[in-house]
Parts: sequence; structure tokens; C-alpha cells
Amino acid sequence: MSEDIRAQIGALQQAFEERPEGLLRHVQRVLVEALDLAERYDLDPERVELAVWGHDLFRSFAPADQLRLALECGLSLTAADRADPVLLHGPIAAVTMRERFGVSDEEALAAVRDHTLGAAEMPIIAKVILLADKFEKRKRDRTPVMKAIRRLAWRDLDTALLCWADWKWVQERENGWQSHPAGWAARLHWVAEHHAEMGLPAREPDEPTES
Ligand SMILES: [Fe+2]
Ligand SMILES: [Fe+2]
Repeated sequence: MSEDIRAQIGALQQAFEERPEGLLRHVQRVLVEALDLAERYDLDPERVELAVWGHDLFRSFAPADQLRLALECGLSLTAADRADPVLLHGPIAAVTMRERFGVSDEEALAAVRDHTLGAAEMPIIAKVILLADKFEKRKRDRTPVMKAIRRLAWRDLDTALLCWADWKWVQERENGWQSHPAGWAARLHWVAEHHAEMGLPAREPDEPTES
């Protein structure tokens, strides 16, 4: 099993010889963060490394190529995907890793697929990859709030994810960007889970106010 994973990682690294240098550097920075969290949460470092090397395999592809590849992969596209095809690079990479690189680790594939938008249910490895991708060194230098999210991730992955989703929501509203329905659905699920964990009662509809 481990030999398989090493060979798969090697093949993905080889593919990066044809990717832009800047993307390779990003993947290397994500790896530093992801391995740190892997140790904290007792995850197999090789599985984490596999997901890190796969997550941005198609990140540098032009939007038209992302759409073409997504269709070739048999992905069903929503209007939001067509409006912003770069969001497809995770799902395309997950299908390609399975079909071309022989990866069968379902949790690692889910981590690759959902690293951009998140998902309602995520294995721990997927939470680690998403967060490491968002607060790698260059990103947290550029966006200081990511430093706080990084510290939080060390204490609790779910709370860190929720804080990231809320930060993203503010960014979207401030800039007039649409929230992707899949990302928004994931956030709503995380909010509900967070409230359930805190033992808060379900939210009651507001009483109509008397005028
Ligand atoms: Fe990505
Ligand atoms: Fe990335």
C-alpha cells in the first residue's frame, strides 16, 4: 500500500515538471502546513502528501480547458461552475488521480475534490488540505487573518473551517461576488453542526412585530 502511494506521489511530482514554477512553490508550502496538521491530528503523512500533490494539478489550466476537461471527466456542470470554471480544478484532479494515477484512497480523493469550496461532510484529511491550502505562508503573509485561522486549526479544525467560510462570505459580500451554492450549502451545514455542538436550541422564527 505504502509503495503504491509513494509511486503515485512520484507520478504527480513528475506532472508538476510541466506546471508553472509558482504553482509548484505553492504546493510545497501547502505541504509544510498539511504535514504539520497531519502530525497534530494523527493522520498518515503519505496520504496527506498524496492529496497535497494532487490538489492543484489543474489549477494553472485556462478556463476553457477546465470546462473541456470537466466534461471529459463526466462531471455535471452547474451555472456557477460555468461562470467560474477555475472552481472545477479540484473535481477534475480527483477524477484524473483515480483514473490516470491509480489512486483509490477515497478520503484523499475527497480532499482533492472539495479543497476549494468545502463540503457538508468532510473526512479529517479533507479539512486539513482545505485549511493548509488557505493559510500557507505566502497566503497568510498577504491576508493576516489567515494567521488566526491557522492557530485555530491547531486547536479545532471545524471551528477553523467555519471561520474561514465566514471570512469568505464577507469577502464575497464586500466585493459583490456570488457565493457558490455548493460552498454556501457546506457553510450552512457547518453552522448548524456548530450550534448543535454548543447545545443551542434550533432557531425559532422571529415573532411578527406589532406596528
Ligand atoms: Fe486549488
Ligand atoms: Fe492550492
